[in-house]
Amino acid sequence: MNLAIVGSGYVGLVTGACFAEVGHTVICVDNDLKKVHSLQDGHIPIYEPGLEELVKKNVAAGRLSFTTSIGDAVEASKVIFIAVPTPPQPDGSVDLSFVEGVAREVAVHIKEYRIIVDKSTVPVKTGEKVAQTISRYNPSADIDVVSNPEFLREGSAVEDLMKPDRIVVGVSSDRAIEPMKEIYTPFNAPIMVTDLNSAELIKHAANSFLALKISYINAVAAICEASGANIERVADGMGADKRIGRAFLNAGIGYGGSCFPKDISAFIRISRELGYQFHLLEEVERINADQAQRFLKKVRESLWVLRHKKIGVLGLAFKGNTDDVRSSVAIAIVQQLIAEGAEVKAYDPKAMDKAQLLIPGAKMVEKAEDVAEGADALLLLTEWTEFKPLPWQAMKKKMLSPLLFDGRNLLNPEELRALGFTYTSIGR
Ligand code: UGA
Repeated sequence: MNLAIVGSGYVGLVTGACFAEVGHTVICVDNDLKKVHSLQDGHIPIYEPGLEELVKKNVAAGRLSFTTSIGDAVEASKVIFIAVPTPPQPDGSVDLSFVEGVAREVAVHIKEYRIIVDKSTVPVKTGEKVAQTISRYNPSADIDVVSNPEFLREGSAVEDLMKPDRIVVGVSSDRAIEPMKEIYTPFNAPIMVTDLNSAELIKHAANSFLALKISYINAVAAICEASGANIERVADGMGADKRIGRAFLNAGIGYGGSCFPKDISAFIRISRELGYQFHLLEEVERINADQAQRFLKKVRESLWVLRHKKIGVLGLAFKGNTDDVRSSVAIAIVQQLIAEGAEVKAYDPKAMDKAQLLIPGAKMVEKAEDVAEGADALLLLTEWTEFKPLPWQAMKKKMLSPLLFDGRNLLNPEELRALGFTYTSIGR
């Protein structure tokens, strides 16, 4: 099928590449001309495993192209996906101006039946507003609006998209169901058809529930620390119950990224507007904010004074396998260390360029082990698996004092303690 995707960010680009991979003809639209040119030349603006190969292969096969022209894309495609940013606003609500802008622009180009699919994460009832907007700017437009939320995780986006647990399709009219099924049949996943509002809610409710699992396990980790229990054994024991599941029960410094913090705030906000005060999610946010502070408290308790202390930081991305530093807890911790007068040397396998803009006071080093040089303490802040086999013994020798704070429970406490580190992690 001929498909258009408006917005070539994380979701749009990965979705476009995967749709092309299963045989659809896809036009990706972006208003950033420089980005479009660089994508046409095969340069991917983000680090996402497997994406570059997929884009190059499908561009070469003629199934994937990039343009700045919404008009051309709307003319050529029966289904138009909106995958533009929905950034947070200071009051916790979501800025829907990009979605609204695309709806208006698409509207004026519609000449025959088109399906407009919202893939961006939006508050419930946005689809209804998109439909109203299109009708207002083009009263004769023959359209259906669909909500088709995306569940991909950064760092494993291609795999998540190619092998989804489920596809959610929220429709306003039955006419859109068959074309949507045709698009997704090659992905061999259950297709769940709902009404528009339910589909939008599924996305916010799912992300909020995952964040709730993380805050729950972080709260239990605090009880583990106070009682001498081990959070990993507790999480394993809980997670073995199929009704609970082990995933997203990894204690750490809290969740970050461009999705959870924003989506939880937005869900609280829209719930309030609809007359429900979502205290449970407010607590999830509070626990999450507290988690970084609890971690910093441990660092301060050991080092006493942070001023002029040399601190080595491993990991800046909001999680492993990505170069994304948006709302990264690691960045927030480094900012606080610097604000308190510490000298920070940092390393991240992929995120240093983006991180440097946010933490200009930190010195980026070329190799992970270089953060240990002359350090009073090391902080591991992102769950990159490549940090596990670092030459810890040699690193310890380079340090002034062997303090190691593992904010992601990535390393084995016994092994690190056997090497002579004073090793502190979360709930163990
Ligand atoms: C999340 C969801 O997992 C996706 O399903 C969703 O599509 C996406 O948001 C989105 O709305 O677009 P993502 O933000 O890429 O995906 O990252 P996650 O893997 O969910 O991790 C989020 C944060 O939680 C990270 O900071 C991670 O380190 C943290 N985390 C995750 C934990 O602290 N503990 C865990 O057990 C799991």
